Amino acid sequence: MELYIRKVRPEDLDRVTEVESLCFPEAEAATRESFAYRISAFPDSFYVGEVDGVIVALVNGCCTNKPFICDELYEPDGGHDPNGENQTIFGLATHPDFQRQGIAEQMMNHIIGVARAAGRKRMVLTCKDKLIHYYEKFGYENKGVSESVHGGVVWYDMVMEL
Ligand SMILES: CC(C)(COP(=O)(O)OP(=O)(O)OC[C@H]1O[C@@H](n2cnc3c(N)ncnc32)[C@H](O)[C@@H]1OP(=O)(O)O)[C@@H](O)C(=O)NCCC(=O)NCCS
Repeated sequence: MELYIRKVRPEDLDRVTEVESLCFPEAEAATRESFAYRISAFPDSFYVGEVDGVIVALVNGCCTNKPFICDELYEPDGGHDPNGENQTIFGLATHPDFQRQGIAEQMMNHIIGVARAAGRKRMVLTCKDKLIHYYEKFGYENKGVSESVHGGVVWYDMVMEL
């Protein structure tokens, strides 16, 4: 199975919203409106993964000088700073039918490469406790419980120096 990773396009809006909703609980899934904002604001740090021409995975996040992700960054017009030194990851998702085949790993490595090439200083994301070990494999460090209360759950701040 070959994964083709490319930059998001405006016409991907419905499909990325669909994949996200299959992967996250309703309270955590980004809405169509939120994706419309992300696609227009930071297409350079929003990638989709296709298998046989169909989107099965996505990774996206704004750039910022904030050291950690806070909930206001998720808001429409949340303050993407094209010159920000940190590349955030708002969401990494693989369609349930395609999970555990290394697709998210390829998506993550891709956006890390993009961030490095753009001269960003670090990668920043939040995750639930069950995925801390997964992000540590890439080199992220757990910085403790996040201020984010997105979706009403406990998140951990994960940071990776580039
Ligand atoms: C997390 C996610 C993106 C991983 O996608 P993937 O393409 O299956 O990832 P990979 O194949 O690169 O890696 C799989 C590894 O992820 C980890 N993992 C995935 N889901 C996990 C879970 N629920 N609990 C613990 N570890 C998990 C495991 O280490 C797994 O390796 P294993 O199969 O050897 O156990 C995917 O499961 C997903 O979309 N989940 C729902 C959305 C989500 O939680 N996204 C991350 C938060 S931003």
